[in-house]
Amino acid sequence: MNTTGTSDTSTMNTTGTTGKQMHLAALFPARHTAGWRDPRFGDHNDFATFSGLARTAQRGLFDFFLLADYPRLTEHRGTVSDVGIAGELDQTTVLSALSSVTERIGLVATVNATFNEPFDVARRLATLDHFSGGRCGWNVVTTSDAWTGENFRRGGYLPHADRYRRAAEFVDAARTMWGGWTADGPTRFRHEGSQFRVQGHFTVPPGPQGCPPTVQAGDSEQGREFAASHADVVYSRHLGAAGLDFTADIRNRVARHGRNPEQVKVMPGVSFALGDTDQEAHDNARAAQAQAVSPELAIWYLERTWGRVLSDHDPDGPLPDIDPDPEPDPDEWPRLSAAPVRLRRANKWRAYASRHRLGIRELVMRLTAGKPFIGTPSRVAQQMTDYVRSGGADGFVLVPAYAPGGLDEFVDRVVPELQQLGSYRTAYPGETLRDHLGLPPAPRS
Ligand SMILES: Cc1cc2nc3c(=O)[nH]c(=O)nc-3n(C[C@H](O)[C@H](O)[C@H](O)COP(=O)(O)O)c2cc1C
Repeated sequence: MNTTGTSDTSTMNTTGTTGKQMHLAALFPARHTAGWRDPRFGDHNDFATFSGLARTAQRGLFDFFLLADYPRLTEHRGTVSDVGIAGELDQTTVLSALSSVTERIGLVATVNATFNEPFDVARRLATLDHFSGGRCGWNVVTTSDAWTGENFRRGGYLPHADRYRRAAEFVDAARTMWGGWTADGPTRFRHEGSQFRVQGHFTVPPGPQGCPPTVQAGDSEQGREFAASHADVVYSRHLGAAGLDFTADIRNRVARHGRNPEQVKVMPGVSFALGDTDQEAHDNARAAQAQAVSPELAIWYLERTWGRVLSDHDPDGPLPDIDPDPEPDPDEWPRLSAAPVRLRRANKWRAYASRHRLGIRELVMRLTAGKPFIGTPSRVAQQMTDYVRSGGADGFVLVPAYAPGGLDEFVDRVVPELQQLGSYRTAYPGETLRDHLGLPPAPRS
C-alpha cells in the first residue's frame, strides 16, 4: 500500500521543477495487423512469450501488463485471416501463471461484459487478486459486433446501448460481490437491475485490493459515459490534438459523475520505434510495418471496405477504380460498415493515395501505423513527456512491434531518459495495482 498518502503523479525532477509523472503499461497482443509474421516474434501460445514481456515491463516499473482479448478469430470470406491466425489463449489462466513469475507489475485481463456472467468473472478476478498479491485489474470491454456474439449465448447479441447498460450493471454487481465479506465472514450479496438479478454468498474472500481497478476501452457516447462512471483507467486510441480533446472530454464527464478527474487515468495505446539516429528509427518503424502488412493483408484490408474480391489487384499497384459494392452478400461479408461510410472512406483513401503516390500496400502500412513515437531514445522520451505535460494523457499503453523482446530497448534506453526528465518513477510506489495507479484503497463493506 502507498503509506505515504501522497499521489505518485507528481514529483521533483532532477532540475528541481515539479512535473507530472506518466503511467506506463504494455499490451499484448496487438491484432490489427499480422505482426506475428515478424521473425523476432515468439509463439503466441508459449508461456515464455508472455512471461518475457511481462518481466521486461516490470523491470521498466510499468503499472500493468494488459492482455487484449479477441473471443473470435478474425475471419475473411469464410476463412480465418492472416491477422487472426496466431491463437487466443484464455486471459485469467495466462495471468494467474504470470502472477507466479512476477512480483510487482499489475496484471490486467480483458474480460467481456457482453458474453460473461458477473459471478463467474468476479470469482476469477478475485482469485487472481489473491494469487498476485493485489495486482489484478479488469479491462471491461463490450465487443463491437454480433459476429463475435455467434460464439456465445445461443448466438444472441445486444444492441449497442444495452451492451453498455449491461456492462455498467455487470461492474456494479461484481463490486457488490467483492464487497460481500466482512471481518466476520461472508454476508449475503444482492444485485437487482434490468440486466441481472443475482444474490447469494460470494465464494472468495476479498483479495488484497478488495476491488480490482477497472480499465475501459470504448469510444462512443455510451462508452465514454461508462468510462466516466465506472473506470479507473481509460485505454484510448486518441493521440495528438484528438487526444487532447478526448482527455478533456473524459475529465469533464468524470467530474459530472461526481468523481475526482485526477483519479481516472487516460492512457492511449501507442507503438514506438527507436534508433541511434532519427533516420535509423524511421527505417526501423518502416521495416516493422512492412513485416506486419503482408501483400495479402493489404488486399484483405481494402476488401473489408470495398465488399468485393480484390485479389486480382496488384498490392503494389494503385487503388481500385471500381467503387465499393453497396450491397454485398452479408453471409460472405459479415462485418462491413454501412455502404455510404465505405464509399466515403474509399474516396478518401483514393485521394490520399494519389496525392502521395502510394500503392495499395504502402497506403495500408500508413493507415495501420497509428501515431507511433519514432526517434532516438531521448527524442521519444521528450515527446512522451511533453504530451503528458500538455494534458494529452496520463501515460501510455505501449504496443511493442514484437514479443517478448520488443520492449527491451524501450525499457533499457527510454525509461532512463524519462527518469532523467523527472517524468517517470524510479521505484514502484507500492505493492498493488491500485498503488501504482495512485488510487485510494477501495472501500470495504
Ligand atoms: C483502444 C481499444 C481497445 C479495445 N480492445 C478490445 C479488446 O481487446 N477486446 C474486445 O473485445 N474489444 C476491445 N475493444 C472494443 C470495445 O470494448 C468496444 O466494444 C468497442 O470499442 C465498441 O464500443 P464503442 O462504440 O463505445 O467504441 C477495444 C476498444 C478500444 C477503443
